Amino acid sequence: MLFLWVFAATLSLVSSDCNVVPIEEWSGSNSNRVEKLPKPVNLVIIQHTVTTQCFTDTDCNKIINVIRNYHLNNRGFTDIAMSFLVGGNGKIYEGAGWHVGSHTRGYNNRSISLSFIGDFRTKLPSNEALQAAIDFLDCAFYKNYLTMDYSLVGTQQLIPTLSPGEKLQSLIKTWPHWKEDVSQL
Ligand SMILES: *[C@@H]1O[C@H](CO)[C@@H](O)[C@H](O)[C@H]1NC(C)=O
Repeated sequence: MLFLWVFAATLSLVSSDCNVVPIEEWSGSNSNRVEKLPKPVNLVIIQHTVTTQCFTDTDCNKIINVIRNYHLNNRGFTDIAMSFLVGGNGKIYEGAGWHVGSHTRGYNNRSISLSFIGDFRTKLPSNEALQAAIDFLDCAFYKNYLTMDYSLVGTQQLIPTLSPGEKLQSLIKTWPHWKEDVSQL
């Protein structure tokens, strides 16, 4: 009985892969991304999508499909730009995932982006979104997708942009892996 329980628990831990909703599940088609990131990754970039916020599965699904179609059809990207997207519903959605994305010029082949769905210049993401992001980073860390001493920064620290918005940027400055000095990244 105990054996069965341990087996089932292990299986669900492995298959859930840090509770990320796979791209084929939310969009109905596979990702075109093929180039893998180095494992483990040592840089996490926080961004926002500058779209409306979403708080239900239906609304989040709609927004990320619009973003994906825009990136595929209007921006000429291989696929959706961001590595992962964080919904106000507390779900993490796979974008480029652990493949090279197109989120931060100059850093794409060695970092992941975690993009909060919404505009966070003057307000913070929902508590559900923030908790989901923290849980995802912890999980990725324990599964060795991230290095022990990975760095976390806002996109605005690396390239000219307001992303992830002043309000969210002030919050991530309090997170344990945040780095002020980006000259060595
Ligand atoms: C990323 O791309 C740059 C520029 O092409 C290259 O110098 C660097 O070695 C690449 N890094 C990785 C981890 O592939």
